[in-house]
Amino acid sequence: MNEAVLETIALTYRYPDGRVALTELDLCIRRGERVALLGANGSGKTTLMLNLLGLLEPGSGEIRAFGESLSRKTADLKRLRSRVGLVFQNPDSQLLSASVAEDVSFGPLNLGLAHDEVRQRVADSLAAVGMDEYAHVPAHALSFGQKKRVCIAGVLAMRPEVLLLDEPTAGLDARAVEELLAVLGDLHAQGMTVVLSTHDIDLAYAWADRAEVLKRGRLVESCEASEFATAFPRFTRHGLAHPRVAEIYNAALGAGLVPCADVEPRTHAELLGALEGEPAQAEEAS
Ligand SMILES: Nc1ncnc2c1ncn2[C@@H]1O[C@H](COP(=O)(O)OP(=O)(O)OP(=O)(O)O)[C@@H](O)[C@H]1O
Ligand SMILES: [Mg+2]
Repeated sequence: MNEAVLETIALTYRYPDGRVALTELDLCIRRGERVALLGANGSGKTTLMLNLLGLLEPGSGEIRAFGESLSRKTADLKRLRSRVGLVFQNPDSQLLSASVAEDVSFGPLNLGLAHDEVRQRVADSLAAVGMDEYAHVPAHALSFGQKKRVCIAGVLAMRPEVLLLDEPTAGLDARAVEELLAVLGDLHAQGMTVVLSTHDIDLAYAWADRAEVLKRGRLVESCEASEFATAFPRFTRHGLAHPRVAEIYNAALGAGLVPCADVEPRTHAELLGALEGEPAQAEEAS
């Protein structure tokens, strides 16, 4: 089992107005994992991500990053944020500068990298999200989905070890979602740890190695990919939908249209394969 990169131990967070958003939360993210953080609106996903990055300070409990208790010193937080990148839920919380290229260069410049290196990273990151043609466009002149892509590029340009993405696919069109998953697949193959919060249950079902479900600030479910087919139907009681691939597969199974597979299909392609009589491949979920 890989080492823990981010961990919370009995983490409790209360907003200044007194609302308790996280309660006694124990969570462990290990190096190289793809973790889907699920939960209905207001369940605490964003609050958790902001705590993990030291942007909010826990009321009680502990956060550990790379094996050490999270320090509140400015230099330590800066180092943490060069190793852990966060793509905010709302792109307007993240975009700062005049042009797209300036915005994406902000983080790497802040790391003190040479200008050539920064230029290269900006170009690579914008290409990765399909926004290279917009390098000189002012960030405020972009559509919501384009802003979201630029935010993702801004974090990729930091080359973090751990990527936290808060609702990265919300507002993206189907093609952009596919491209984002391809980028995340490449990054994961290079060893990056990826945690994403999402309401897209189909995406979580297809993509994650592990799913964690929050409900009113508490962690109520935690399961590995091999348990998804049996665990996800339970998630409806936490305000989540049933994955469509599982629903169709079970209906086809019930109607005798497909034989019972050793590995349940998790992606659309695997489902089609099952319907056409091809066995699902456990490692093909990205
Ligand atoms: N700035 C704030 N001040 C007070 N309470 C807040 C604040 N931001 C969030 N909350 C509360 O904290 C709880 C968790 O909110 P959070 O934004 O973390 O949920 P979420 O799971 O990210 O929801 P969503 O799916 O809508 O993004 C909610 O009850 C919310 O009302
Ligand atoms: Mg949120």
